[in-house]
Amino acid sequence: KSYRVAILGATGAVGTELLELLDCRNFPVADLKLLASERSVGRSLCFKGENLLVESVNVRAFENVDLVLASAGGSTSQEWASVAVEKGAVVIDNSSAFRMNPEVPLVVPEVNPLAAANHKGIIANPNCTTILMTVAVWPLHKLRPIQRIVASTYQSASGAGAKAMAEVKTQAAAILQGQSPVAEVLPYPLAFNLFPHNSPLNDAGYCEEEMKMVNETRKIFGTQQIRITATCVRVPVLRAHSEAINLEFEEPFDPDEAREILSHSPGVKLLEDWGTNHFPMPIEATGRDEVLVGRIRQDISHPCGLELWLCGDQIRKGAALNAVQIAELLVEQNLLQPATACVFS
Ligand code: A2P
Repeated sequence: KSYRVAILGATGAVGTELLELLDCRNFPVADLKLLASERSVGRSLCFKGENLLVESVNVRAFENVDLVLASAGGSTSQEWASVAVEKGAVVIDNSSAFRMNPEVPLVVPEVNPLAAANHKGIIANPNCTTILMTVAVWPLHKLRPIQRIVASTYQSASGAGAKAMAEVKTQAAAILQGQSPVAEVLPYPLAFNLFPHNSPLNDAGYCEEEMKMVNETRKIFGTQQIRITATCVRVPVLRAHSEAINLEFEEPFDPDEAREILSHSPGVKLLEDWGTNHFPMPIEATGRDEVLVGRIRQDISHPCGLELWLCGDQIRKGAALNAVQIAELLVEQNLLQPATACVFS
């Protein structure tokens, strides 16, 4: 069986990756619709050697579609996801619009694949930093529950979209020519700089990105008990995020045991060469499916603490790949079925 698929946000950083992944992973596509804003109408993108025209979004665009892969921002998903569900499609949404909705499963296939079975038409793809962290940390948590996580992120420009990636290159070129960098997409110059993540701040002083890591990880792990704090920072890297993770357990966790577990955990690639001080780097994670993990060590400040470092391709496992893996899960389990009634409109 094959499926009629639409990509909402097809011209974006994640959208173009979705297109490539559907092709290279041989997803059973019967028909593919590319949807974006009015700005992109007339553009074409290549899928399996064929040039497909980009269309603008409207109600009719979701007729005769089985699966929508949405990556066009929260407000676009708010506007169109329920329309697509009403028309009989299942939506895998990359935005934050529905992630904390109790009617919407939030799925990382390596962690909570069974959650997908309860979908009512929309399945949410988690935040990119959260996906990367949960893939690396879940195998340890499964064995011995984590009490507390302290995460520090080093997030690439790709998280802010294709235009932000282009802007960093332009800024770098300007600086190298002795000119002042211009920031239009990003809030501040990012080339040769970094800044705390610029999502809105709450009263406690945490930005939205940090609270996504807290709340989404709890939802994915199925526990509110785990204490989590995060500091998210944008760095001048093009497309792979890095994270320093401090884990606290009830009892000491031997780093060698953690290493052994992570060396055969799904979606994880252990990369540690202590002799040459070679550990995961964003340029090595770029274009790869796995989350690279290394520098696993005992926290010298806490007997039950463990430190690790990870890098993962933000566009791939942090977004597009996770979405396609969810779609594959739905196909395998025969869950790509229209919702009986739309609970989202
Ligand atoms: P467009 O290229 O026409 O602006 P990125 O995250 O890389 O910035 O990509 C965002 C994606 O979402 C792009 O494909 C963009 O299309 C699309 N998009 C943005 N706003 C809308 C909208 N209002 N309706 C449909 N697609 C949108």
